[in-house]
Amino acid sequence: QSPLRIGVAGLGNVGATLVRILQKDGAELNKKLGRQLQVTAVAARSRSRDRGIDISGIEWFDDPVALAKSDSIDLFVELIGGEDGPAYAAVKSALEIGRPVVTANKALLAKHGVTLAKLAEESGAQLGFEAAVAGGIPVIKTLREGLGSAQIAKVFGIMNGTCNYILTRMGNEGITFADCLKDAQALGYAESDPTFDVEGFDTAHKLSILSTLCFGYEIAPDKMRVEGISGITQHDIQVAADLGYKIKLLGIAERTEDGVEQRVHPTFVPKGSAIAGVDGVMNAVALETDHVHELLLAGPGAGGPPTASSVLSDILDIARGTRVPPLGVPSDELLPYRAAPSRAH
Ligand code: HSE
Repeated sequence: QSPLRIGVAGLGNVGATLVRILQKDGAELNKKLGRQLQVTAVAARSRSRDRGIDISGIEWFDDPVALAKSDSIDLFVELIGGEDGPAYAAVKSALEIGRPVVTANKALLAKHGVTLAKLAEESGAQLGFEAAVAGGIPVIKTLREGLGSAQIAKVFGIMNGTCNYILTRMGNEGITFADCLKDAQALGYAESDPTFDVEGFDTAHKLSILSTLCFGYEIAPDKMRVEGISGITQHDIQVAADLGYKIKLLGIAERTEDGVEQRVHPTFVPKGSAIAGVDGVMNAVALETDHVHELLLAGPGAGGPPTASSVLSDILDIARGTRVPPLGVPSDELLPYRAAPSRAH
């Protein structure tokens, strides 16, 4: 079989880790797949920056859109980030010409996911986005392929590794919010603008992607109540502990008689519950369905290797020619939306 020529746009933490994995484990992967995976082209802001990877033999593009459309690749991987700008333009250009795309960009999908899914459906291109929700946890695969005909009633969980890392360390070590955030940034967990993490917007992006998949209706992140963790103090954590709880930032979407209700906020969870045991950079997504009741998927939610591993699993599906079920473009009709109460009880 011909090699799969991969173009990677964005060589930040995840992009550089992906190229490193492909270079290091390439021979092993190629043997398993029976097909060669080659990073043949990259695009990023700075050509000279030291990323600890060798890009000397790889074609360089300054413009990610030119890379997305280039004849020198078969698959476009978008790891630039941002809901509009070059990420949107490049992904759209690739899908328009029927080229498969893999992206980890939750902000982009939360805003343009339905448009991009429609484009992919029209052109027959695959659109993989496993890495966009809950880092290394295969939650998108589970939703698209693993639940059969089960109807989902509720999806909720810890969807931001940075916030969970901060809350865990504040609880265990009594250190300040600001110091924990600095460490999360140094470890490569946080967004380039960490406001997205700590104010709950990143969780809102991920929750809206899950909701659209779970309920078949587009529910925009700007339609939910979002409260982050920047106001949480040691005192709050201590009060929760004294009462037998931990504080976790949860995203929750639930089908009710009046429509879907979605919200993101810090929540008291009972110590000893499965979700309370999910600490550090770990994420967990719980699904309540009519057949399997509650399913809890947990694993590392942020950081280069887990996120790159999810990107790689989409790349492998495309290399194998696996046809995953169509995304099922959501209905144009909006599900009645029930505004969440202003404070969770
Ligand atoms: N900043 C995100 C997080 C990265 O902390 O979860 C993974 O999406």
